[in-house]
Amino acid sequence: MISPLIEQMFAEIFCVNLRDLRETKFKLLFIMKKEAIKLWPELEWIKDKDLREKTTKTWQLALERSVLTPDDLKKIPFTLLCGPDLKVTFMDHKRSVVHIARDAGNTINGMYKGELTCNMDVVIAGAILADVGKLIEYVLDENGKAIQGVYGKYLRHPFSGVSLAEECGVPAEVCHIIATHAGEGNMVKRTTEAYVVHHADFMTFLPFKERLTV
Ligand SMILES: [Fe+2]
Repeated sequence: MISPLIEQMFAEIFCVNLRDLRETKFKLLFIMKKEAIKLWPELEWIKDKDLREKTTKTWQLALERSVLTPDDLKKIPFTLLCGPDLKVTFMDHKRSVVHIARDAGNTINGMYKGELTCNMDVVIAGAILADVGKLIEYVLDENGKAIQGVYGKYLRHPFSGVSLAEECGVPAEVCHIIATHAGEGNMVKRTTEAYVVHHADFMTFLPFKERLTV
């Protein structure tokens, strides 16, 4: 978020009226919130209002800071490893991971006699946020293609995602899912919810990267 002092400096440097600047910022925030909700109908599945709002706010913040627009997210391939012709888009894959994680969590809660349980709000928020950091990991090259930027090389999306989410007050059990959903998480113990999101993500990624065909 931009501090009032920086806002004032910006307004003075660029000779913009401070009230107009704040109004524009407010409008931008409002637009990005609407875009985040449009991208993610699954936000409605989070029952806890506070967690739902913090999850939405994290996407809103990422959209504000990203060079990628919501339209780009519906067009760019979900992984850079499978070539430019892949039809499955970033949003197709991210949303499918949330659906698979929800189905897996519900099955665990329904069939394991309480000996293994899954907090559904945590699993859904974690799945929605797992790749939010990609919005600041990627930049656009001279041909408009999404590539990993310098910041993204230093801090891959599990790290930048946690940074964005913590800024929006997302609790540690959800940040843990963002932090451990990819290969980095193999170095630490995962919660049940983090295992669910990790496997939902990787079971639909690895066969695109490499699969046995006979
Ligand atoms: Fe990821």
